[in-house]
Amino acid sequence: MTAAFTSLPEEFASPLTLAQERLGLFAHRVLWYAEVGSTNDIAGTFAEKGADEGLVVVADRQTAGRGRLGRSWASPSGAGIYVSLVLRPSATAARLVTIAAGVAVTDGIAAATGLSTHVKWPNDVHVSGRKLAGILAEGAASHVVLGIGINVQPAAYPPDVAARATSIEAELGRPVDRGLVLAECLAAVASRYGDLRENRTASIVDAWRMRAAPMLGRRVEWESAGERHTGLAENIDDDGSLIVRVGGHTLRIRSGEVRWL
Ligand code: BTN
Repeated sequence: MTAAFTSLPEEFASPLTLAQERLGLFAHRVLWYAEVGSTNDIAGTFAEKGADEGLVVVADRQTAGRGRLGRSWASPSGAGIYVSLVLRPSATAARLVTIAAGVAVTDGIAAATGLSTHVKWPNDVHVSGRKLAGILAEGAASHVVLGIGINVQPAAYPPDVAARATSIEAELGRPVDRGLVLAECLAAVASRYGDLRENRTASIVDAWRMRAAPMLGRRVEWESAGERHTGLAENIDDDGSLIVRVGGHTLRIRSGEVRWL
């Protein structure tokens, strides 16, 4: 086995070794933890200490998994993939990192399991109206930590999460190989991130639009300056902003909370 994967359990080491040539910048150093607070914190600490771009931090369980907008991310042992990647994108590439990652996670899940999923702006991965995976990008001056959480098995999620969440196994009705899902998602992020670094952004935005098709045309609600607004989600812009039609105008939402109605 290659030295990059020696700390990994067999379940992950074998599929990563088989996929190694396609893992690109993620083929060199993968760190495994049985339990952490948040893989994003571990990866962020390594990044601040100068870790190379491409460091991968994977945990079997998180005790303080974080989601977007201050939410928590339920991370029971063995039930999901909890992984964080250290990236050092240019300022231009950084703007589309989460869009590229959302597309890559749908690519990776499809390649590993055949399950077709779609994206919901900015980068939730959904199937049958339920959330299956989420992405949390946390940036500092010198790096971005890209955290990816994928529900693989049905688990004892808190009731508020259980009502809105699903998992790959629940959708397919059969067991899936967690290591293979991780390997294919890393290969897909490596490929899409490569496109981003080479300025091939059109292919990323086009792929995102295809995977978001079921969501476009739906009504969204958001708050701005203390007021609630609604509009029709029309598309995403080339920089990843959500384009919303409100009456006769369109406006762009760059980040923050959007509720899909
Ligand atoms: C979201 O949809 O709100 C984003 C969820 C991101 C969860 C992942 S799990 C691995 C990484 N570590 C964390 O604490 N969060 C991200």
